[in-house]
Amino acid sequence: MSAEPPYTDNELAERGLLRDRLPRHVAIIMDGNGRWARMRGLPRVEGHRRGVTSVRAVVEECARLQLDQLTLYCFSSENWKRPPLELELLMSLLRTYVVKERDEIMRQGLRFGTIGRNDGLSPGILKEVQQTIDLSASNPGMRLCLALNYGSRTELVDAMRSIAERVKAGEIDPAAIDEAVIASHLYTAGMADPDLVIRTSGELRVSNFLLWQISYAELWVTEKHWPDFRAPDLHEAFHDFATRDRRFGGLSET
Ligand code: IPE
Ligand code: IPE
Ligand code: MG
Repeated sequence: MSAEPPYTDNELAERGLLRDRLPRHVAIIMDGNGRWARMRGLPRVEGHRRGVTSVRAVVEECARLQLDQLTLYCFSSENWKRPPLELELLMSLLRTYVVKERDEIMRQGLRFGTIGRNDGLSPGILKEVQQTIDLSASNPGMRLCLALNYGSRTELVDAMRSIAERVKAGEIDPAAIDEAVIASHLYTAGMADPDLVIRTSGELRVSNFLLWQISYAELWVTEKHWPDFRAPDLHEAFHDFATRDRRFGGLSET
């Protein structure tokens, strides 16, 4: 079975979308798995399981819309505070996802990657992640980036340490440190900043996600819990994004 083909301009128009008004890079804070399960009298982990179905649907839709990049917040550096049993299941789901979706990632021609610290992730997960990264490295399609064991503050700590090391080694003159130098030492080096951040489940916060990179991103929040999120919700976010007047501190052109 081949992957669904990209949408034509007509198919986009039928969905009320215009190609040049779509965000190029979308980042999603996939929240509310626990609440989704609790509302149904199910254990929290059932929400995480169902959340994987939403991940599949959203990855496929973003690929059909030919976005440049989709970044998914899967596990934060603060999520280690959760009970051991939930952590165990989250790690097992992550590993299964990376292994089971490998074929799909290849079929859709996606370029897979991750951001976050390796410390704390099991060698088993890291091995599967690396295998998928290597296998998909020369794919031409959308970049699919999973934020795993990711925290923006640890990212800034790691960046500052590595810049300091290079200053100490005489490779960088402190006076030459500018925004581009800092950006090139983040986990996201070489990636464009997100244009749009989506958060499910209604919380109005960014929870330590891409603090540097989302300086000028548009934010869109839905009350829907992540396991209920599907392509039409993505379209709703994109319709709203298309109406935003992004000024980047300047003046509106209209
Ligand atoms: C998001 O759902 C998944 C992760 C953070 C791993 P939650 O588990 O945070 O669900 P709620 O917010 O408790 O409902
Ligand atoms: C953010 O959700 C992290 C992920 C979606 C992976 P959280 O549920 O951890 O965020 P808080 O605790 O509500 O801020
Ligand atoms: Mg949450």
